[in-house]
Amino acid sequence: MTQPKKERTLAEPFRIKMVEPLKVTTEAYREEILKKTGYNPFLIRSDDVFIDLLTDSGTSAMSDHQWAGMMIGDESYAGAHSWEHFEAVVKELSGMPYILPTHQGRAAERILYGILGGKDKVFISNTHFDTTRANIEFTGAQAFDILPPEAYDPELDLPFKGDIDTAQLHKLLKEYGASRIGAVIMTVTNNSAGGQPVSMGNMKEVRSICDEHGVLLVIDGCRVAENSYFIKHREKGYENKTYKEIAQELLRLGDAFMMSAKKDALVNMGGILAVKNEDLARQCTNLLIISEGFATYGGLTGRDMEAIAIGLQEVFDADYLHYRIRSTAYLGEHLRNKGIPVVWPIGGHAVYIDSKKLYPHIPVEQYPGQMLVCDLYQKGGIRCVEVGSVMFGKYDEQGKLIPAKNELVRLAIPRRVYTQSHIDFVIDVFDDILEMREQKTGLKITYEPPFLRHFTAKFEKI
Ligand code: F0G
Repeated sequence: MTQPKKERTLAEPFRIKMVEPLKVTTEAYREEILKKTGYNPFLIRSDDVFIDLLTDSGTSAMSDHQWAGMMIGDESYAGAHSWEHFEAVVKELSGMPYILPTHQGRAAERILYGILGGKDKVFISNTHFDTTRANIEFTGAQAFDILPPEAYDPELDLPFKGDIDTAQLHKLLKEYGASRIGAVIMTVTNNSAGGQPVSMGNMKEVRSICDEHGVLLVIDGCRVAENSYFIKHREKGYENKTYKEIAQELLRLGDAFMMSAKKDALVNMGGILAVKNEDLARQCTNLLIISEGFATYGGLTGRDMEAIAIGLQEVFDADYLHYRIRSTAYLGEHLRNKGIPVVWPIGGHAVYIDSKKLYPHIPVEQYPGQMLVCDLYQKGGIRCVEVGSVMFGKYDEQGKLIPAKNELVRLAIPRRVYTQSHIDFVIDVFDDILEMREQKTGLKITYEPPFLRHFTAKFEKI
């Protein structure tokens, strides 16, 4: 009998020209570090981390072309050729006539939502990312997330779990009326909900609903190239389009587009704001000039703009995107095969683990997600982040924890940084986690700041 042919190893479609040595530490050393930093990986020095999966934001490795581009960056205050390059690439991608460079994504959000927001305004999204929500609420406006109920089921295998619930969208738009709506915001892929993609069908429906009600549609496209991969491979009618054509079609459905360039533009810093309407563009430009910089550089250097312009083209390379999405799935699939409960299907930029299922004997008041984050550091020097009750938990009037919807842990994969053997190492560390999970207790908080506590809170083992 002939054996089924083994799938070929997906080798990284790049080779390494410059290396950054990693420090190999012992478990005893890392245990001490955890004690010293109060069991909060945000407080660990990166030199003490072996594999850093804290975020995919600003952690990409740039290509030789991007580095070469940095050398020809034009640092003129006004009208630099690097600005022209940046503007042309973003215009071609988004189809929007007015382009503004910002120092990172949240600066674009602060400008746009500072204008569209305000007391009594309402924003509706598939899911607002933390900084998006913070910038909206800072203006006094309200932010609603409306995913369909099935999107919250971590195990349900659906192709586009990032889609917004259009029935609820209709209902909310009617309830509040166009004059109170700041904007509808579609986050692609949906970072806060597992990095799940949004379908073109859903985007088109949202566009027509926004037209019907006369409201603005903003696209947060930090990971628009990754989203295009899922559309091409999962949605009928897109099989023969290129990834870039899909992204172009998707972004043209919006009235504005913002992007943290630290993700799919493959750079370490940068942001983009693009708008269709001339009057809105003028208001945004005025704010850009007083807070970021002149209109032709905003918050960026010429070399930053050059690297972004090149990165935004490289990211649509078919071999790169295939490697990117498949290598994230590789980690998720191997963990799932070991019996680790992961959010399914695997999203574009990260693998999310359901820590409540992995550590069922640790009550949510003892933060099972934070415990898993610390165990991964102790066992393997791996750094990741809790996305559960440490990040989103609140207290009731009696001081009792109101837990988050889920107790997830995010393993975010930096772009073009780690090789398959780094990822195999991460998979191996989970054997230790499975072995010791029965003996585990959780953590208690010994210090917490009044807001965004996950960044600086301190814990103690129970
Ligand atoms: N929108 C989304 C969907 C994001 O994921 C982020 C950042 C931002 C906006 C803000 O962009 O960091 O450039 O100001 N996400 C990072 C993360 C921080 O780790 O997921 P920024």
